[in-house]
Order: sequence, then structure tokens, then C-alpha cells
Amino acid sequence: MADKFDRGLERLKSFYQAHQSDPRLVESYGYFFAHPFTPINLKRLRAIIDFSASHKSSPRLFDACCGGGLISLMLSMMGASVVGVDANEDEIAVAQMARNELGLTSVEFQCGDAVKVIGAAPPQSFDQVLFAYAIHHVPQYHDLMANAFNALKDDGRLIVNEENRSSPVFRLKHVLRGVIQRDTDDEHQLSFSELTLLHQQTGFRIESAVGIDVVPLPMRYQWCLVMESCKTP
Ligand SMILES: C[S@@+](CC[C@H](N)C(=O)[O-])C[C@H]1O[C@@H](n2cnc3c(N)ncnc32)[C@H](O)[C@@H]1O
Repeated sequence: MADKFDRGLERLKSFYQAHQSDPRLVESYGYFFAHPFTPINLKRLRAIIDFSASHKSSPRLFDACCGGGLISLMLSMMGASVVGVDANEDEIAVAQMARNELGLTSVEFQCGDAVKVIGAAPPQSFDQVLFAYAIHHVPQYHDLMANAFNALKDDGRLIVNEENRSSPVFRLKHVLRGVIQRDTDDEHQLSFSELTLLHQQTGFRIESAVGIDVVPLPMRYQWCLVMESCKTP
């Protein structure tokens, strides 16, 4: 599995390097190879892949707010069959370009509102649903979670990756926003407790969680959280 991950990452880096002067890719969410926090991004990618692979080897997975598709593409190279959805057509164009150049047929991308697209999926459609840096961009995040619950199989898994508002590193980064990354003003990051409550309120039980940070802190203060949840009966 480590080899597969490393080979996939090399393919994605090669795609990025071949297009790094293309403004669409420079602007795209997800292509973090030249980002100041690349090590954190790599760790979160790894944690997402580990949760997905340890649950099921060839899952059917919905990636909400997939941006330029980097995580969807990586999941597909690991064996998943992926539907990636993003509201921004430029992001989807980058994702499609990468899909085509990498010759990946087990991933498809759609432009649309993830809340509506997953809401329209028949019940029990997916083994896994991924929200990677998605919840803080979607004001209707309760609906997003509830729709994921319906679209997931009974033994499915929800994988949530979020920035933690309670983290001191997040607060510092928040002050520096605009200098170090392209964030928007309407983001609404939740605290560790709020994320835990949101899972409970929408029928999920968090089974495992990892925190990723530049300083060692208790989980509830770690900046980047990756949580794997199952449906409560
Ligand atoms: C920070 S990016 C996350 C990209 C990727 N998931 C990652 O973790 O690297 C957030 C993305 O959410 C998308 N987005 C915001 N609201 C959305 C919605 N309602 N439906 C689909 N995509 C949405 C934006 O276009 C943007 O590409």
C-alpha cells in the first residue's frame, strides 16, 4: 500500500510539474505541492487514504467539494471508484484534465452543488463519503451531513477532514490568511467539540480520529483533523 501511495503521489507531482505555469493549476485547490504547508497536506492526504483503504479495498466513494480533484485522483489510483463534485467549473476543468492525462477511468467529476448532488443519490449508493475541507465552505453543512447519511450504505464510512477552529495554529494562520493561502471570507471552521456534536446530531459515530499539526498538542487543539465515522443504527 505504501508503494502504491508513493507511485500515485509521483504521478500527481509529475502532472503538477508539467502544468505549474498554467494559471488554472496554480489557482486550483488541492494542488499543494508548492504550498508552505505541503507536509501537513501530505499527512492529511495519507490519513484520508489510510482510513479509506482500511475500511474497504475498492470502495465506491463520493468526494464532496473535490476542488481540482487531487484527493479523488489519489483515491482512484489506490483502487476506489470515485465521484468528485465541486461547485466551481474551473476546478472541475482542472480535475478533468488531470483525469484524462493520467488515464484514470475509475474517477468521474461533476460540476454542481455537493449538497444537491449527494441529496439526489439513491439511498445506500456509496461505501464512503469524503468531506475534505468541505464543511467549512458549505453553509448548509447539516444538510450535507444528513444527505451523506442517506447516500451511504449501512456499513459505510464518512471521512471528514477539517481545520479545527480551536487550534492555536489555525488562529495564527487565520491572522495570516491572504498571505499564505487563498481563503474566502465566508468560511466557518468549527471547533473539535462542534464537529463531534455535528456528527452525533446527523447520526454518525466517530470511530477514529487523527490530528495533524506542526506542534504536539492534545487532539482537541490540533489544527488539521481527519475523522472516520460509521452510521449509528
Ligand atoms: C478548500 S477547497 C477543498 C478541495 C479539496 N477537497 C481538498 O481538500 O484539497 C473547497 C472547495 O469547495 C468548493 N465548494 C464550496 N461550496 C461548494 C458546494 N456547495 N458544492 C460543491 N463544492 C463547493 C469550492 O469550489 C472549493 O473548490
